[in-house]
Amino acid sequence: MTAPLAHPEIVRMEAIDKRFPGVHALRSVSFDLRAGEVHALMGENGAGKSTLMKCLSGVYTPDGGRILVAGQEASLPNPKAAQDLGIGIIHQELALMKDLTVAQNIWIGREPRQSFGRVDEGKLNADAAALFAQMNVSMNPTAPVEGLTIARQQMVEIAKALSHRSRVLIMDEPTAALNDAEIAELFAIIRGLKAEGVGIVYISHKMDEIRRISDRVTVMRDGGYVGTVEAATTPIETIIAMMVGRALTDETPEIPDLEHAETALEVRGIRRGKELRDVSFSLRKGEILGFAGLMGAGRTEVARAIFGADPRDAGEIIVHGRHVKIASPGDAVRAGIGYLSEDRKHFGLALGMDVRANVAMASLTRYADRLGRIDEGKLGEIAKDYIATLRIRTPSDRQEVRLLSGGNQQKVVIAKWLLRDCDILIFDEPTRGIDVGAKAEIYRLLQDLAAQGKAIIVISSELPEVLRLSHRIAVMCEGRLTGFLPGGAATTQEEIMHLATLRPTLAEAHA
Ligand SMILES: Nc1ncnc2c1ncn2[C@@H]1O[C@H](COP(=O)(O)OP(=O)(O)OP(=O)(O)O)[C@@H](O)[C@H]1O
Ligand SMILES: [Mg+2]
Repeated sequence: MTAPLAHPEIVRMEAIDKRFPGVHALRSVSFDLRAGEVHALMGENGAGKSTLMKCLSGVYTPDGGRILVAGQEASLPNPKAAQDLGIGIIHQELALMKDLTVAQNIWIGREPRQSFGRVDEGKLNADAAALFAQMNVSMNPTAPVEGLTIARQQMVEIAKALSHRSRVLIMDEPTAALNDAEIAELFAIIRGLKAEGVGIVYISHKMDEIRRISDRVTVMRDGGYVGTVEAATTPIETIIAMMVGRALTDETPEIPDLEHAETALEVRGIRRGKELRDVSFSLRKGEILGFAGLMGAGRTEVARAIFGADPRDAGEIIVHGRHVKIASPGDAVRAGIGYLSEDRKHFGLALGMDVRANVAMASLTRYADRLGRIDEGKLGEIAKDYIATLRIRTPSDRQEVRLLSGGNQQKVVIAKWLLRDCDILIFDEPTRGIDVGAKAEIYRLLQDLAAQGKAIIVISSELPEVLRLSHRIAVMCEGRLTGFLPGGAATTQEEIMHLATLRPTLAEAHA
């Protein structure tokens, strides 16, 4: 026997082809994975990343090509077959059963039984506890999954994959909804798995993570394979150029002088329990006000309070100089306020309807005649316009939204709110899960909207994005506004972090 290779190849995918009606999703794509490496898979929204990994995990059957696992040609007709070969996947959309406990989710369908066939809950929980111990994570196996944060749910998914003795673990955008501390924790788990020889496929749009966690990077574009490079020695610009196939020009724009601009929105003394403590600020026409802060600082709560999605204990909202009563989202929309929520899957889309209907949904009345008949032709034109500007990858405006890739679904929600003609627009994490090229497109769009006189609030957890986009930055910590900073090059990430961690004094907290 020869000595084992330093990096034995555990997976090889050769010339994989996959078509869906109207979409050639994978064109002869190759990919390989070594034991103990993190192999990042990158590409724009709709490039085919999730589809390729669904082929590897038995969710889809490729139309062409072959897959070798540990050197043997493998047939992966279903997810069970892939699991049996040690291939586990954590999907872009987490898929746990909310009503079951952590341990029940891990062993679902494989529960240890006592004689008489009853589930052996004791063993179930102990086995789950052992997995978390292996991951170095503290987790109560009997806790219901409902109520766990996304980060904790992900850990349950990882434990579930480990329970199948996975040698291959595919993570599809695992950090899209995690905060910095949670990302650090996830990376620690990933490093532990690497050390045990697990090969990890890591899909992400966050460029800064690639250097931090991955060994090699494979880039896909338009369903095709572009190339594979070493993460440590390849400049990020090179990877971006491979992804988008064009140079991205994205210089920080000038900040307009808004001193004499009319005030569009004034918020006075909004309170709700401990979540919002006396939040006051104003927003001018043409201004982009960024909201920064750590997760849980209250930024989304401010947005939801202004939008009437949550009740308030106190506080006034003044739009264009007039006090408005906002008790529901309907009131807010009538006052000209739009809100793109951070939880787009649940509040933003009708997944079974087509792109055109989703884009137009919030604005239908504008395209109806006096008898209420909708001008379908016009709607189609508008939808096609947005498909082009936002580069939504879809075979047509009649494609069902559920068939689009994750990032492209998000672009549809953005189009919906852009079309609806609000004076005041609140965007909560608008570029989460969106590729670098489309991010630049969205930044430009927000700038154009501001230049047209819209007043815009952008909530973002990515500091470079806040700095890049905002004319002014509001920072929150524990339900309070802790300060304002100028946007652009005048402010550093450190200055934002300082205000974001300026906790109220203990005395105040008890007041
Ligand atoms: N079940 C399906 N039916 C029809 N088209 C599909 C289906 N699944 C994926 N597609 C299409 O295949 C293409 C690739 O999608 P995929 O989800 O693999 O992209 P992705 O690279 O993961 O993108 P994102 O970064 O947005 O998640 C897209 O054009 C998508 O609309
Ligand atoms: Mg995807």
